[in-house]
Amino acid sequence: MADPLTAPSTGLSTGPPAAPPPLPDLIPAPRRMRGAPPGAVYAPGEDGGVVLDEDTVLEARPGTEDVARWLRATVGAATGLPLAPPGPARPDGADPGAGRGVRVVLSVDAAVGRELGSEGYRLVVDAHTVRVAGGGAAGVFWAAQTLRQLLGPEAFRRAPVSPRRAWTVPRVVVEDAPRFRWRGVLLDVARHFMPKDGLLRQIDLLAAHKLNVLHLHLTDDQGWRVEIERYPRLTETGAWRARTRTGHGASALWDERPHGGYYTKDDLREIVAYAAGRHVTVVPEIDIPGHSQAAIAAYPELGNTDVIDTTTLSVRDTWGISENVLAPTDNTLAFYENVLAEVLELFPSPFVHIGGDECPKDQWKASPAARARREAEGLADEDELQSWFVRHFDRWLAGRGRRLIGWDEILEGGLLDGGLSPGAAVSSWRGRAGGVAAARAGHDVVMCPQEQVYLDHRQAPGDDEPVPIGYVRTLEDVYRFEPVPAELTEAEAGRVLGAQANIWTEVMENQQRVDYQAFPRLAAFAEAVWSDLPPPAVRDYPGFERRMTAAHYARLDALGVDYRPPGGPRPWQRRPGVLGRPIEGAPPIV
Ligand code: ACM
Repeated sequence: MADPLTAPSTGLSTGPPAAPPPLPDLIPAPRRMRGAPPGAVYAPGEDGGVVLDEDTVLEARPGTEDVARWLRATVGAATGLPLAPPGPARPDGADPGAGRGVRVVLSVDAAVGRELGSEGYRLVVDAHTVRVAGGGAAGVFWAAQTLRQLLGPEAFRRAPVSPRRAWTVPRVVVEDAPRFRWRGVLLDVARHFMPKDGLLRQIDLLAAHKLNVLHLHLTDDQGWRVEIERYPRLTETGAWRARTRTGHGASALWDERPHGGYYTKDDLREIVAYAAGRHVTVVPEIDIPGHSQAAIAAYPELGNTDVIDTTTLSVRDTWGISENVLAPTDNTLAFYENVLAEVLELFPSPFVHIGGDECPKDQWKASPAARARREAEGLADEDELQSWFVRHFDRWLAGRGRRLIGWDEILEGGLLDGGLSPGAAVSSWRGRAGGVAAARAGHDVVMCPQEQVYLDHRQAPGDDEPVPIGYVRTLEDVYRFEPVPAELTEAEAGRVLGAQANIWTEVMENQQRVDYQAFPRLAAFAEAVWSDLPPPAVRDYPGFERRMTAAHYARLDALGVDYRPPGGPRPWQRRPGVLGRPIEGAPPIV
């Protein structure tokens, strides 16, 4: 292969030489990118790229067949190009693709893997070939996403809009690999259900940003969203609420329509397989022992029946934290073991999230049965009772080859003193302290501090932001998010698997509202977890903004994303008069 950095330009050198074209505006920024060699001579208007056309051949070497299928289904649909496989091998041994125009060659390359890891890739565009070599199939897939960006925003549509246009891939060499292996997004499908179509679309949007974990928050006080065959009432009763508070905090408005929905087992098999085809892992969350009112409404014996009449409970129709939590009984443990057994069949993810956050202890304090359990187990207080729950499912999951992950409240009650199995991990959401403590104790952590990467929080001050929640966190704030807490040593920092942006949906009633809160900030988050950015204070935010304006907003438009425009919400994106729960005075970005 000719070295693209020294190969001569294909441009005709008539007329005055033009400057080489600027490098493409990729998001997230790749680790390294070079254009054609310095000194290459371009004719005016000639950009030095190769043109994909009807004759372009897409060759998938072993292990890359799925990526080829994805390229044909997406880039093929957008461009109208067949991207045909090479013809059958010729008896004379000659290259079957030779002479038929540009070739796109996908391969898994062990040398790339050694240098850049299994998610890394090298993409080289030379005179007649686009060579995509990944360290593993994931690397090839991320390279294919880069190739789609190189083709321009129209490559993000589902059908051609300019049939006679040239599909030019600029002459570049991209060498790329992610900084973190957990580049996640939590989507809360419990507070507002997102129908399956929308969820598949979200997976595509994650993949377009090289994000690779979808943490699905499947259960909460306001709804249970996963079919469990052994306990059908979880979805017959628990997936539906009679009405919903519109807005948050002191809002007096109600949507009087029933709301709900759930994913059948086949839906979830499809979602998991669709995600896997895009190198996205779906991590299910079944929240215990708090955030469980929908389950208790379906099966009242799960609640603290000696404190309240749990048969009167219904699926919660308002926000905040319910005091109706699971009873610490053998029946509850057995019930959730049975639930998790079905969950494990659906989700191959090594990690299973058991929630563990925001569990009020008032009912346990009032419950003779809970007190008896505490005393029988020798537990000092109700925090230790919560740890008892967590420890049980930690061991149960570890015994089945899975790893527990939970919100940082799972550290309350002393579990860091050897109480958790070594594989257990923590999602650090109440700032960074939980993540720091867990990493220091030798546990893996995922950083998702609410101060910076809770995308339900508002994107600007002022009255225009729809249903304002939490702190003001702008696109720039998210861009300056640094996943690794500064106080960790290098060895401790190795425990940071990555980070996650959390999209809680109390005030996001549909896909458009999710789009608005998620974008464009998810593009900034993607760069913070994929790219090797310098420390927050010296990050090139103007450069990121320029790439957004030059290319990425157009990609989001082509994808049909209802993002927040830089100038503020469009009229239909506002929610005048709907109260939120803003918090004044955001903590500093650290
Ligand atoms: C959480 O935001 N309660 C994890």
